[in-house]
Amino acid sequence: MSTSTTQATAQGAAPAQRAASAPHPPPGPLTRRALLASAGAGAGALVLTACSGGGGGAGSGTAANGGGSSGTAAAPSGTVVTPTGDVPVGGAVSVQVDGAPYLVTQPKEGTFEAFSAICTHQGCTVAPGDGELDCPCHGSRFDLSTGDVIAGPAPSPLPRLDVTVSGTDVVTA
Ligand code: FES
Repeated sequence: MSTSTTQATAQGAAPAQRAASAPHPPPGPLTRRALLASAGAGAGALVLTACSGGGGGAGSGTAANGGGSSGTAAAPSGTVVTPTGDVPVGGAVSVQVDGAPYLVTQPKEGTFEAFSAICTHQGCTVAPGDGELDCPCHGSRFDLSTGDVIAGPAPSPLPRLDVTVSGTDVVTA
């Protein structure tokens, strides 16, 4: 009796059964080389799938969130972005404003700036670095005071979010 292959339920099947129902049964005896070639092709397909999925996601996020590249106004004036005490002098803190990622910096004590955290290269989320802002994806680095590109491949500065200080908070201007 020949049973049809049930690969969808093969998770619990014994290894011998899986081998017998392989999608590309070799014409002759199964050699180690044939087995390795088959496994290699499968792994390659998985890698390609993972790459295209991840890249597409990051790219589409960029288009949606980074559309306004000159002087971003993400939230109504006076929206609290972060307490001033959370921003290190000579550093930055990551925040969300209206669901979008931003970086609030304090290049000098009492001077606060804010920039979109969406990298102008391919849309990864830029993070606070050591006296600068760093993109983890391809190594772009941005100036803490201006958002200007210190090192590429990012083609343009991080869009600025106009902020001011109100009491003990950094708020949108
Ligand atoms: Fe930031 Fe490429 S996405 S350097």
